[in-house]
Amino acid sequence: MEESRYCRASRCFKTSRIFPTDVNNHNTLFGGKLMAYIDDIASISAAKHCRQSVVTASTDSVDFLQPIRPTDSVTLESFVTWTGTSSMEVFVKVMKEDLLSGERTIAATSFLTFVALGEDNRPVPVPGVIPESEEELKLHETAPQRAEMRVRRRQESKKLADFLTIAQPWD
Ligand SMILES: CC(C)(COP(=O)(O)OP(=O)(O)OC[C@H]1O[C@@H](n2cnc3c(N)ncnc32)[C@H](O)[C@@H]1OP(=O)(O)O)[C@@H](O)C(=O)NCCC(=O)NCCS
Repeated sequence: MEESRYCRASRCFKTSRIFPTDVNNHNTLFGGKLMAYIDDIASISAAKHCRQSVVTASTDSVDFLQPIRPTDSVTLESFVTWTGTSSMEVFVKVMKEDLLSGERTIAATSFLTFVALGEDNRPVPVPGVIPESEEELKLHETAPQRAEMRVRRRQESKKLADFLTIAQPWD
């Protein structure tokens, strides 16, 4: 296994304008569009960290804290905060900037988990993470607790999947 890598080695930024096709009926950025941006940038951070093929295993949540309007730009920042054996936690911070006033606000946050896959499509080990900044250190230290919650949630999801019917109304 390769040596651990710095959070900064997986850091990505993406800034976009909000176009008329990106908004919902409130004239603010459509949540599904933002979720696609989040998954996209997070997958690049995960791939930069491990230099393997990666898949999204889960998204904890996306907390939409502030609406993003057509007069704002939206900037996403992502980096790997922590790794297990084959899994990587990626944090995504979404900022909006009012392009007329320059005021910047955190608009959303999200944690996602990606798994590195080898050529046989089975999970493979990934390098550890070295946090440096105050933000990186806090996110790294608090990650094991979030990982435990995901293990429990996954067990619950599996139980629910076993219970659910796969019959269609027309069967
Ligand atoms: C994610 C996936 C590769 C895990 O494969 P698996 O054979 O179940 O592997 P394991 O149970 O050994 O888990 C591998 C790692 O993934 C983690 N993991 C699996 N499911 C997870 C979930 N829902 N949330 C967080 N972590 C998860 C495990 O904790 C483990 O972490 P570790 O290696 O750091 O300890 C598999 O479930 C899968 O392919 N899912 C579909 C992914 C996909 O298609 N994503 C695109 C979205 S549509």
